[in-house]
Amino acid sequence: MCGIVGYIGTQAATEILLAGLEKLEYRGYDSAGIATVWEGEVNCVRAKGKLNNLRSKLEQLENPAQIGIGHTRWATHGKPEEYNAHPHLDTAMRVAVVQNGIIENYRELREELKQKGHEFRSETDTEVIPHLIAEFLKNLPASSSSSAFLDAVSQAVNYLKGAFAIAVISADYPDELIVVRQQAPLVIGFGQGEFFCASDTPAIVAYTRAVLPLENGEIARLTPLGVEIYNFAGDRLKKQPRMLNLSPMMVEKQGFKHFMLKEIYEQPGVVRACLEAYFTNTEKSSESPINLGLPTDFYADLAQIHIVACGTSWHAALVGKYLLEQLAGISTQVHYASEYRYAPSPLTPNTLIVGVTQSGETADTLAALAMEKERRQGQEPQYQARLLGITNRPESSLGLMVPHIINTLAGIEIGVAATKTFIAQLMAFYALALDLAARRQTVPLEKLVEIITGLRQIPKEIEATLESQESLTEHLAHDFAETKDFIFLGRGINFPIALEGALKLKEISYIHAEGYPAGEMKHGPIALLDSKVPVVAIAVPGSVYEKVISNAQEAKARDSRLIGVTPVKDGEAAEIFNDLLPVSSVDELLSPILTVVPLQLLAYHIAARRGLDVDQPRNLAKSVTVE
Ligand code: F6R
Repeated sequence: MCGIVGYIGTQAATEILLAGLEKLEYRGYDSAGIATVWEGEVNCVRAKGKLNNLRSKLEQLENPAQIGIGHTRWATHGKPEEYNAHPHLDTAMRVAVVQNGIIENYRELREELKQKGHEFRSETDTEVIPHLIAEFLKNLPASSSSSAFLDAVSQAVNYLKGAFAIAVISADYPDELIVVRQQAPLVIGFGQGEFFCASDTPAIVAYTRAVLPLENGEIARLTPLGVEIYNFAGDRLKKQPRMLNLSPMMVEKQGFKHFMLKEIYEQPGVVRACLEAYFTNTEKSSESPINLGLPTDFYADLAQIHIVACGTSWHAALVGKYLLEQLAGISTQVHYASEYRYAPSPLTPNTLIVGVTQSGETADTLAALAMEKERRQGQEPQYQARLLGITNRPESSLGLMVPHIINTLAGIEIGVAATKTFIAQLMAFYALALDLAARRQTVPLEKLVEIITGLRQIPKEIEATLESQESLTEHLAHDFAETKDFIFLGRGINFPIALEGALKLKEISYIHAEGYPAGEMKHGPIALLDSKVPVVAIAVPGSVYEKVISNAQEAKARDSRLIGVTPVKDGEAAEIFNDLLPVSSVDELLSPILTVVPLQLLAYHIAARRGLDVDQPRNLAKSVTVE
């Protein structure tokens, strides 16, 4: 969380920095700021709240500076006030720094620096960095060597503990932009005589597609002449940029009111892309019709699976558990990554550890995977870590950490609430579970073919659902604009969808919502029900259909308004539910990919009707890079 951007080149930096920050606002929007170097001074402008506030402030200022850094903040240390906004400066205001991450030892550093006469102006952890750099610069003759600034930043970085990415400029080194990556993302962009840095590629894709993601422990010096990369020990590294497969169009709303709505509508295409990528196996000798590009030894003697994830990815993992256990017969546990790190399951042999994260940058998930990797190192071969990542960003920190990746192919997702990346994660789990089922022969071939044939129908079923639900959900949203609590019920493979429906609603509409396994309602939550608490029940014909209908009736008997996500032609359901959000009739096993769609639309329309900022809900960020 927090987005950083930097520019050095021949154009005026301010507009480029603002345009970059606009694309990074999904990472945090508590405050924003930029700093440039012009006529021997650092010019720093900051504003509380969204980027527009900063933009208004900058409109009155003319600034032709051709070097600068920018930041959009998700507050960790210190309130979301202007004095805590980045960039932060040293006492003499010669060095400016933006940071994404957390400096864990900032208190000690701050005390030491204060004793040396440094004056602090914020409550943030970041502010120690410019002071520390200034302290090292004091001991280096200014402008004496082209690498003095780099030396000072390198020395400072070696004192910092935590996970961070930083960008630094100095009034005394007007032709240098120094950037550092230590467990927080940072990518460098290569233009013609101009160079960029950013927390994420959408910020620079309008200017260049030649990019180089820095790795942990790397530091780069950007000048108008080129880019030099070093490790923290000071060794120069040789690296080549690669071409990005992302067009500026992909990060535009394309006529939709919000990114979230656009991304909901992109879901049929995402499912098609996943079907094409995973379910086309041209290798005749393969034991499976699925091709995930995983080596044969990955599958050998697999006894169990642990999945770590957070939020929506955790919900996708719960659907994954159902599929892996019911189809492939492999015992699977799903853990909150933030809990697993500190209380892992006992070591077991032949265990696959799967990390699910759309951003590939979630600190909790990365930390849980790193812990597994470390504790299994040096163990007997059967106890060693078998790691798989499921992510939408294979170039992310997750991609650097694990040997195998399933790329979820959703395309860039800008709306903070995950929608199309969730559906793509589901597709990855269908592919993995069916692949394992085929190899372990736990499902007869005809059944396997039937499931895959069913999956191939899903894109057009989602299209039909979108078409029929758009006005229905918009209409329902009128009635619920003032509602304070919602309950979502589901069972079996649709229980995680009840959780996801509730999470989507609370994230963007700020309505309190809870998801429960329908059978659990009578064990407590039923006490909450009355005419003011609507209940959304996901009832799909199959193993638990009658049970869900009975549970829904129990809610109706307590005066709750009952909304059914259920197949179109179901006469019984039509009588029970007050409102219907109909979905096509598909195999229960495939239904989560469909049942989640009306719930996404319902959450979207309720939030939009309430006039809320759907794409940037309060207090949230798209990639949560702090623990
Ligand atoms: C939900 C949402 C969050 C994320 C969670 C994990 O809409 O955006 O709950 O799902 O922060 O993020 P990733 O998948 O990037 O690890």
